[in-house]
Amino acid sequence: MEHTIQLHDKKFKIMIPAEEIDRAVSAVAERVREDYKEIDTPVFLGVLNGSFMFMSDLIKKLDFNCELSFVKLSSYTGDHTTGEVKTLIGLNNNLKDRHVIIVEDIVDTGESMEHMIDLLKAYEPASIRMCTLFFKPAAYRKTMPVDYCAMEIGNEFIVGYGLDYNQLGRNFKDIYVVTEE
Ligand code: IMP
Ligand code: MG
Repeated sequence: MEHTIQLHDKKFKIMIPAEEIDRAVSAVAERVREDYKEIDTPVFLGVLNGSFMFMSDLIKKLDFNCELSFVKLSSYTGDHTTGEVKTLIGLNNNLKDRHVIIVEDIVDTGESMEHMIDLLKAYEPASIRMCTLFFKPAAYRKTMPVDYCAMEIGNEFIVGYGLDYNQLGRNFKDIYVVTEE
């Protein structure tokens, strides 16, 4: 495990080792399993690119029949939110009357999540909940509940396990935090 990494102009240091991520993913998967094991074939909708690793590990811990799909909603260009969100692409499942669980890498201000939920409502699903790997409660500006959250963090900028800084850092299995220098 590398203790510091350089991505573009910034240095990052290790913050959450892979083993700890795995424990948090197991705990959130258990909550999802309890709530959905009796539900008829829920649909997990991963938001690309950031959620691919979380989705992969989460879904392996679930033992009931479910569907999985990935959608894209890109709004982020640097290490702060642009406030500008694009449309939903890649959705080809019929979501009418289905139970949908959105799978996100991180909920920061909640803008992307809110936009995603608004777009999904048009498909008339039976329910929509969100499951995020990380949640930044101090940055959150919305009122809708974050139904499932594996880990809460402060306002620091993190990378690894799917999360990026200008497209770099997604491949690392541990979570790294930006350093001040
Ligand atoms: P929101 O719309 O402000 O909630 O931002 C959500 C999106 O911003 C996430 O899906 C990420 O792509 C990106 N983001 C927010 N915080 C971080 C971070 O600490 N590291 C990497 N990406 C982040
Ligand atoms: Mg994202």
